[in-house]
Amino acid sequence: MNLLKVAICGGGRTGHLNAILFKQLPNVQVSMLTSNLEIIEQHARQTPMQALLPNGSTLQARLDRVTTDARAAVEDADIVIITVPAHARPQTLKDIAPHLNASKPVYIGAIPGFCGFDWLAEATLPDRPNLVIWGMKDVPHTAFELTPGRSIKMGGGKSQLYVATHAREPQTARRQLEKILTRLYGPCVTMLENYLEITLTPGNPIMHSSVIYGLIGPFGQWHRKIFPQRLCWWTECPELGAYFLERMDQESQALCAVISQRMGIDLSSVKSLKQEIVEAYGEQIRDQSSMLSILRTNQAYNDILAPMVPADGNRAGYVIERESRAFSEDVAYGLVLLVEMAKRFDLKVPHIEEVLQWSVGYMHGLRDSALDYFPSQWPHATSAAA
Ligand SMILES: NC(=O)c1ccc[n+]([C@@H]2O[C@H](COP(=O)([O-])OP(=O)(O)OC[C@H]3O[C@@H](n4cnc5c(N)ncnc54)[C@H](OP(=O)(O)O)[C@@H]3O)[C@@H](O)[C@H]2O)c1
Repeated sequence: MNLLKVAICGGGRTGHLNAILFKQLPNVQVSMLTSNLEIIEQHARQTPMQALLPNGSTLQARLDRVTTDARAAVEDADIVIITVPAHARPQTLKDIAPHLNASKPVYIGAIPGFCGFDWLAEATLPDRPNLVIWGMKDVPHTAFELTPGRSIKMGGGKSQLYVATHAREPQTARRQLEKILTRLYGPCVTMLENYLEITLTPGNPIMHSSVIYGLIGPFGQWHRKIFPQRLCWWTECPELGAYFLERMDQESQALCAVISQRMGIDLSSVKSLKQEIVEAYGEQIRDQSSMLSILRTNQAYNDILAPMVPADGNRAGYVIERESRAFSEDVAYGLVLLVEMAKRFDLKVPHIEEVLQWSVGYMHGLRDSALDYFPSQWPHATSAAA
């Protein structure tokens, strides 16, 4: 079996877990690009990285290279996997772009691939025909409790991993990518026909923003108040948050239907969020009767804390963190994209817009967003070939 050189960009939870899993395979070389000096130091001390599995067992790995140097991390890579959050991807791509090998195919993808990674990669890496752009719909496993350079806990895994390529990629490149990902993840890899199946799948952008809006938006019971203690995202989800989530889920489905019809593409794989959650967690949800009960009674969602920080000015209690990824990633790179796509089709998505506008105000405006790379001509022809 040929040596496969994998470069993982981002030394966070997803980066650690995937790196350790890949190193269990024969003839797979793994490098990690990280800005975290703790990981570099542990690697230099030859500390093995450990993944703690849900069944109590442990996997160990020693990566081939751990570095802050983008060139050293990616220059010989066959496949590059970006695991940093969506708002950090533009910088990561800029850092690695000059060092990607130009003389062989290099498969450059994001896990997860949401927030229009295909458009970002196309805009950041123009005129690089040997690069094959791809994304995975979701993370293969949840990953939590990271001790950098030392250990990571693996949570539940997905039974199927859905992958899409940029529309420009030819069938030969898609087939080769499928082979590589099957080697890395096993036979659970399924290729999607269209990258929009990833971009339009509802997830964190509508889930997080609706719950925050329901809690502290203008009609929320905690509007301009301080929480006495940290709150759980889902088990303590407010009714108003679940209401907005359900409305936003419907609008996101309507957007999908319009795009599917007008662009003539099959988006039937994109399910409503409610259906996605019920199918993913099944028996773990005690009461499947409404969005609220699904969120509140899903055992897999127990104990997940909402992003909160201590209130300022010596006040006791907590507030929702403005710098949280629920804003910088989910709002600026997720919701913004949905609203802009709807605009291009003259589709009204009033609940998504209401939550977006309020969220942007809470963030004190957008510094950067997915609009920085969303193609100005979309949905009309871009450089896409297919
Ligand atoms: N963990 C999960 O179970 C899970 C589940 C669903 C979805 N996701 C998604 O997977 C992606 C990665 O999540 P994660 O949980 O692996 O995140 P994480 O543990 O916070 O790791 C992200 C890494 O990205 C790098 N980074 C660069 N700029 C950053 C910035 N401005 N803010 C935060 N990190 C930055 C950092 O790596 P360096 O310090 O090495 O540069 C950081 O360790 C996100 O899009 C997340 O929404 C994760």
